[in-house]
Amino acid sequence: MALLRWMRRRAKCCCMTCCGVFVFIIASLALFGRYLYKKEHCTDVESKQIIEGLCDLYSQGEVTGSLCSALCESRDLHYQTCTNYRKGKKVLFLTCDSCIPGKTSVSVVLKMKTDLSERDQLDMSHLELDTEQRQKDYVREVEFLVKNSFMFLRHKDMSKHKDILSFAWGWNFHEYLKNSNNRQKAVVVASSSLWSLTEQQEYLMSRDLYNYSFIPRIYGTCGPAYVVENTQTLGNYEFEMFKGWPHSWKERAAIALKLIHLIKDLDNLGQKLHLCDIKPDNFGLRDNGEVTLIDTDCAMFERNLLEQFNHTNCTKHDDCDFFDCRGFCDTKTKQCLLERTNNNMQSLCEDVFVGYFPKMPTGLLRDPPGAIKVELFKLLQECSNPVVETERHNARQHAQPNTVKKLQELLLRSIVDLS
Ligand SMILES: Nc1ncnc2c1ncn2[C@@H]1O[C@H](COP(=O)(O)OP(=O)(O)O)[C@@H](O)[C@H]1O
Ligand SMILES: [Mg+2]
Repeated sequence: MALLRWMRRRAKCCCMTCCGVFVFIIASLALFGRYLYKKEHCTDVESKQIIEGLCDLYSQGEVTGSLCSALCESRDLHYQTCTNYRKGKKVLFLTCDSCIPGKTSVSVVLKMKTDLSERDQLDMSHLELDTEQRQKDYVREVEFLVKNSFMFLRHKDMSKHKDILSFAWGWNFHEYLKNSNNRQKAVVVASSSLWSLTEQQEYLMSRDLYNYSFIPRIYGTCGPAYVVENTQTLGNYEFEMFKGWPHSWKERAAIALKLIHLIKDLDNLGQKLHLCDIKPDNFGLRDNGEVTLIDTDCAMFERNLLEQFNHTNCTKHDDCDFFDCRGFCDTKTKQCLLERTNNNMQSLCEDVFVGYFPKMPTGLLRDPPGAIKVELFKLLQECSNPVVETERHNARQHAQPNTVKKLQELLLRSIVDLS
């Protein structure tokens, strides 16, 4: 009897210990999860500190720009929320009361590549600025540097550009100097603010391609931060567990057609523009149905991409890849060839239209109408994983124009049939 009682007490004890250990493990996992979440996600407090930091620099006369006053003085720009910016740029969502004249308020995005303290500063402190002539020479030097930045972006001759500084800043540089009380200081502040912007690839690209509708509109700048139009992203159109299929086929097929047009346009900019980071989150969608490129940090014009492949040692093709821009390893010379083996269209099909699971598409073109299911699946396979007869062993391939044409026709037909 005593033995039975002892055994029961021991079992109870064991059970309590197990429960304790279980609770401890769950609690530790929860704490670790919370730590990881906090580490990865932005907070409102930190985001507001970014704006305050910028405004502190503005009030100390360290930075300037067309929107500093609206952000820091009249407070026409109001912080709303932030995105998960830990691994990438600082991206804050705001509303702006004065960005579009006559419109009460628009939703905008404030972007900046790095922390304020790490912004690229123009170091020309060796130049004296005490006379008007010296200030003019300084501005000429900045003009030269900014022209070079554009030149490096696209290898396009900017030497004849009439007012490169105002073009790059989106604000009249010379007017700013004229209206300032202390011209000597204004030259430095304006130049370094502009420089911290033009050192950001996305900003420079947006200015360079400003007249294309696929580039988000820039409303203005403050120091190294620039404010652009806010659109929804195609990330909203990805399949999410438990979310179901909130967007109709017709809507998704129409977006796919716009994306195909956009990708074709990128081949006709004088030099091909390669998008090396293609994913739904990097495309914007305006209310009027236009698609935009909201993240051009990994977009490269042809010559720069080839330069990237140049002199790269390799033992396999993957060593030559620049994100989604696939390279080719010449295993004899152990050097990457100077060519991209896939193209934007292949990447679009793979990463946006098909999504994570090739055998069961979860991307934008998932769940098509029954009548086109088989044909669409075949075309998406051909486009995302092209098999082209070639001498090259294991080469990655371009999506073929013929496949894309058939895909366009099929999507168009499916939209008309549903109308
Ligand atoms: N113009 C914009 N409109 C709406 N959302 C944007 C815009 N720019 C960025 N975002 C949001 O912020 C995220 C991160 O911005 P992005 O420019 O892609 O930076 P990163 O280099 O960190 O990927 C985007 O995936 C998108 O969700
Ligand atoms: Mg991005």
